[in-house]
Amino acid sequence: MAIENWVGKELETLTAFRRDLHQNPELLYDTVRTAATVAEALRAAGVDEVVEGIGRTGVVGVIHGHSNKSGRMIGLRADMDALPINEATGKPWASKVPGKMHACGHDGHTTMLLGAAKHLAQSRAFDGTVIVIFQPAEEGGAGARAMIEDGLFTRWPCNEVYGMHNRPGMPVGEFTIAPGPIMGSVDEVRITIEGRGGHAAKPNETIDPLPVAATIIQSVQTIASRTIDPMDNAVVSLCTMQAGNAFNVIPQTAEITGTVRALREEVRDQVEARLKSLVENIASGFGATGKVDYIRHYPVTVNHERETDLAAQAAQEVAGVDRVDLEMAPVLGGEDFSFMLNEVPGAMINIGNGPSAGLHHPEYDFDDDVIGWGCSYWTTLVRQRLPAA
Ligand code: NI
Repeated sequence: MAIENWVGKELETLTAFRRDLHQNPELLYDTVRTAATVAEALRAAGVDEVVEGIGRTGVVGVIHGHSNKSGRMIGLRADMDALPINEATGKPWASKVPGKMHACGHDGHTTMLLGAAKHLAQSRAFDGTVIVIFQPAEEGGAGARAMIEDGLFTRWPCNEVYGMHNRPGMPVGEFTIAPGPIMGSVDEVRITIEGRGGHAAKPNETIDPLPVAATIIQSVQTIASRTIDPMDNAVVSLCTMQAGNAFNVIPQTAEITGTVRALREEVRDQVEARLKSLVENIASGFGATGKVDYIRHYPVTVNHERETDLAAQAAQEVAGVDRVDLEMAPVLGGEDFSFMLNEVPGAMINIGNGPSAGLHHPEYDFDDDVIGWGCSYWTTLVRQRLPAA
């Protein structure tokens, strides 16, 4: 139980690698420099095959073990993209790019998986094949889906796939995981209300979209409280409204946008159907028309039971049984590793990042002491899942 020995001699290099990524954050699919840096490091480490350009800027590394008697293949995944945030940490390795920042620690995720890949390529002490997956566009761009659509799992048919995210507020050296739904679906809602514009002094000659919008905003509050089973979870947050541009003109249209989160796909379907029904019927009651564009971004992130146990076992070997919480509480934030978990059995684990500011905060800080724990988790997981024959 501890950080694995091999990490010691790599830690300085990996920390420098992480800080270089941190200084040079890139958004969504524009992770060109990051992907090139990762690919170069994988090649330098002797990874057997390095394929760039999967899902636009995704990178895949293939590492064969000493033997392949089992014929088994497991995928380990990290995300590479940053966020449109102005960094406020004041650290010497702070972002050099105004308005962009690794505020979710994906630089750390990338570094930990790279460290593990280096070690696996050197030691080869496993039976089977390890695929290291570096994806772009986790922050809203569905980079995981792009890689899957680009043939990720048909070219490399993984038996299992694993992901890891850091967690501020949990001590370094601790892990948390749970089976089942751990993160919410993420959907976008765009409501358009079409009325009939006209003179503010002659409302009788118009169909004012504003009272329609107001009624819709009030009414959707009943979805979570009156439509969904109280033992389920759903969030409907309407966050913008645009209508009109003059104090004496009744506008023709009103637009509302928002987001829906759920922890079960059935609940997601229920919210969508109810939302559409409310908007269309309320609008028509006023003589207007209401339309909902319901855009499904990320599915619910569902950890598979068996692979959750297996991931927990690896974490327990690294951190000790007492430092792995097996009852991680679900949250309604989203994670596009969900797309991979819908294709291949697997699990996502959270790793403690100490007392940092929260994810997506300008003062968020990835603790480089996490690197050793994350690297050890990955290589322990490989040793357990692909035992040397
Ligand atoms: Ni993240």
